[in-house]
Amino acid sequence: MGKSKIALGIDVGGTGIKGAPVDLDKGAFADDRLRIPTPDVATPEAVCDVVAEIARQFDLGKSTPVGITLPAVVTHGVARSAANIDESWIGYHAEELFEKRLGRDITILNDADAAGVAELRYGAARKQDGLVIVTTLGTGIGSAMLLDGVLAPNSELGHLEIDGHDAESRAATSAREREGLDWHEWAERLTTYYRRVEDLFWPELFVVGGGVSKQADSFLPLLDIRTPIVPAKLKNKAGIIGAAYLAANR
Ligand code: BGC
Repeated sequence: MGKSKIALGIDVGGTGIKGAPVDLDKGAFADDRLRIPTPDVATPEAVCDVVAEIARQFDLGKSTPVGITLPAVVTHGVARSAANIDESWIGYHAEELFEKRLGRDITILNDADAAGVAELRYGAARKQDGLVIVTTLGTGIGSAMLLDGVLAPNSELGHLEIDGHDAESRAATSAREREGLDWHEWAERLTTYYRRVEDLFWPELFVVGGGVSKQADSFLPLLDIRTPIVPAKLKNKAGIIGAAYLAANR
């Protein structure tokens, strides 16, 4: 057997910045994951320090691809939104900053897009034709739209306006925790949310990721929607794995 292909994935989240080398043949971590808390004031420079520290901890070859996710719209290496991160990211050329600091090519992408691609390539959306919508439920709601195996980046379906509210402010995991909703109450919110999405896009499949997907049995069976909905297979590893995959396949 040949040597397997490795890429580093780093997932920048609201509370933690996590990275691991990924075996791209298996779609699995090739080493233990490293997690460093996100700096309190998560400016691009402060986050870059942590990312550089994570990259330093792994023994990367010169040509090892590195992919980094942000919880933001990212076009051409520039962050365009900042719903749950420091506003100073908006308009910031994140790719350039990271490339200078790490001294290598970097791929920057939206966190939910990374998770979606990982599920498509290695997880719950494998071999699914037609439109798949992967949603991540966490501090916000992230989304990835994948049509016949191709990602349409930056879909931002967490910000649909429903009953006058930004959808993620009512239906994300953070809303469940903040308002102390039980599984049934939260499932009602999610039903409203996913019904809106299915009425607009008519996907073949929803995949639900984010940390709470580990407890999918507690809430997915309570949803009353017509589209099949399944938990993410890669759970919260998907961001790291997808970032690594896309860095190696840009
Ligand atoms: C952001 C998205 C992000 C999602 C999950 C949303 O608030 O707008 O870009 O993917 O949170 O982190």
